[in-house]
Amino acid sequence: MIELKNISKTYGMKQALKNINVTIKPGEIFGLIGHNGAGKSTAIKSLVSIIEPSEGEIWVDGEQLSENRLNIKKRIGYVSDSPDMFLRLTAAEYWNLIAVAYDVSEEEKTKQLKKFMELFDMTEHQSEVISSFSHGMRQKTFIIGALLPNPDIWILDEPMTGLDPQASFDLKELMKQHAAEGNIVLFSTHALEIAQQLCNHIAILKKGEILYDGTTQDLIAQNENESLETIYLKLAGRQSKVEENESSALFERGE
Ligand SMILES: Nc1ncnc2c1ncn2[C@@H]1O[C@H](COP(=O)(O)OP(=O)(O)OP(=O)(O)O)[C@@H](O)[C@H]1O
Ligand SMILES: [Mg+2]
Repeated sequence: MIELKNISKTYGMKQALKNINVTIKPGEIFGLIGHNGAGKSTAIKSLVSIIEPSEGEIWVDGEQLSENRLNIKKRIGYVSDSPDMFLRLTAAEYWNLIAVAYDVSEEEKTKQLKKFMELFDMTEHQSEVISSFSHGMRQKTFIIGALLPNPDIWILDEPMTGLDPQASFDLKELMKQHAAEGNIVLFSTHALEIAQQLCNHIAILKKGEILYDGTTQDLIAQNENESLETIYLKLAGRQSKVEENESSALFERGE
């Protein structure tokens, strides 16, 4: 179980997260949705220990993250929002690095890589440098790296971005299977139809605050069975008159 308790994060004057409280249970596929700049990556980076929240506590299965970072980090497979890293390494060199860092045995590494390289059509590209890859191929390289050590908690920041329909389908199947085995899968996305399809638990963020936290089923049932896209736009979309007037003025000026 992952618990975010009263999490706030400020960058200088900017408050990126305001008093976030969320509990994610084993077996859940938890989707974080929200406009650009809503705070999704900030919440995710706090969970994977890349940044430190300004206030609040994160607990994983009864252990406080700030007191047990190494233990908890070992349990997490993280895919960042930007696959532009380790560009000079080949895919295989990058995966070897991960295997060493996470203490994955040679046998396990071979088994996992065979499975994932075949699934994501990366076998023939394993000896090529990451800088020569397309965006989607880089994304697949980092997804394989994150899943290689067999982590029980998956934290994926916009994982489907750039993936072709086959890879996107396969990743969704892996996510469903992992959650069905009693593990946590947490991801952010702008693809609301994917969130509706996959998530049993959803949180909608707007300007660092949670507008909704609950089951996808309840959210849809409470809104006359409309699509998640329609509900999301009603809740988090442009609402105030000022914002509407500003945007129609922009359209009229052709900006
Ligand atoms: N390193 C940083 N320094 C200063 N401000 C930051 C930093 N990272 C994020 N922010 C600010 O925090 C807010 C939340 O950003 P965040 O990246 O969490 O949004 P997001 O929901 O992931 O957006 P997107 O959908 O575009 O990925 C934004 O206003 C952003 O400008
Ligand atoms: Mg982001």
